[in-house]
Amino acid sequence: MKALVLSGGSGTRLRPFSYSMPKQLIPVANKPVLEHVLENIRDLGITDIGVIVGDRGEQIAEVIGDGARLGARITYIAQEEPLGLAHCVALARPFLGDDDFVMYLGDNILPDGVGDVAGRFTAHRPDAQVIVHKVPDPRAFGVAELDTGGRVVRLVEKPQDPQSDLALIGVYFFTPAIHEAVAAIEPSPRGELEITDAIQWLVTQGREVRASEYSGYWKDTGRAEDVLECNRRILAGLKPGIAGHVDAHSTLVGTVVLEAGARVVRSAIEGPVIIGAGSVVEDSRIGPGTSVGRDCVLRRSRVADSIILDRAEITGIPSLEGSLIGRGAQVGACTLEPSHHRLVVGDDTRIEVAA
Ligand code: DAU
Repeated sequence: MKALVLSGGSGTRLRPFSYSMPKQLIPVANKPVLEHVLENIRDLGITDIGVIVGDRGEQIAEVIGDGARLGARITYIAQEEPLGLAHCVALARPFLGDDDFVMYLGDNILPDGVGDVAGRFTAHRPDAQVIVHKVPDPRAFGVAELDTGGRVVRLVEKPQDPQSDLALIGVYFFTPAIHEAVAAIEPSPRGELEITDAIQWLVTQGREVRASEYSGYWKDTGRAEDVLECNRRILAGLKPGIAGHVDAHSTLVGTVVLEAGARVVRSAIEGPVIIGAGSVVEDSRIGPGTSVGRDCVLRRSRVADSIILDRAEITGIPSLEGSLIGRGAQVGACTLEPSHHRLVVGDDTRIEVAA
């Protein structure tokens, strides 16, 4: 079996981050979302992985490499425009050949893995196997209707009026039957070749499409809130490890990972927290639920439930919560007049200040 990971797309909901980095490289617990995805695929025993990339392909290849680090072989497949998930399958046909494959969206995180579903797919080998999860509002997802035996009877992409509460998770198992379906469908009203339409085509042709309900944690990291929530969840499962330096005036409570070369001085760290290599935390309170990237500086600040990307500096901020701070960003107190806010803010940035 092969794997096809979709890591193109535009990431409009993750602006301004997606202006400078593909959304699949945003770090969750200091590891790019895409790396979490590739590890899950490696854990299925799949080593032949095709990765669809858009105009940020070079950045992705630089970070992820050829897969050797993960014990896999990665083939990058360029997609010039994000013309849809089924378009990705058509583009990857030469790579996929006539093998079965798992298609995995590069922005979906499932920390508990998909081993059970993979086992069911290989044992029964339906034409396609999707994974569904109950959500309170499924309108932002593909929505599945099932019969009592777990067969899919209908699939609709982002319906206004959903007929079930079962959202499609971005992991799909396919036999080569999907290629016939992809060739048969037309672009949707939003101009994309939808994988949901291709699977619906199989259903209409009387092919066997099965669904497994997923009971583990799943997040589509499409928005900043989702990335932060996922970060908290993954941090909670980390193994503690202190490779950096903690001075005698600091306290560490709960699960804390301090990478080599990181320093904690006169500070309190309340896990789960990860602090990346080369970062300095001084006179601060950090955590819970916080990831600090590499070479960051945090001084006289209180930071909780946040992700701080590499090289960012935070100084003199009494309370920063639920925040995503970009690479090399500087956040500090206004030195001219304490009650003022001075902002140098990039396009499509979101700022909420105490008012
Ligand atoms: O997360 C689950 C949902 O993912 C499903 O419920 C939906 O049925 C499915 O269509 C998809 O919806 P999204 O709107 O979240 O898809 P998005 O545009 O975010 O793309 C998913 C991934 O695929 C993302 O990593 C970008 C990549 N992609 C997307 C398109 C449209 C490509 O590589 N090429 C593309 O042309």
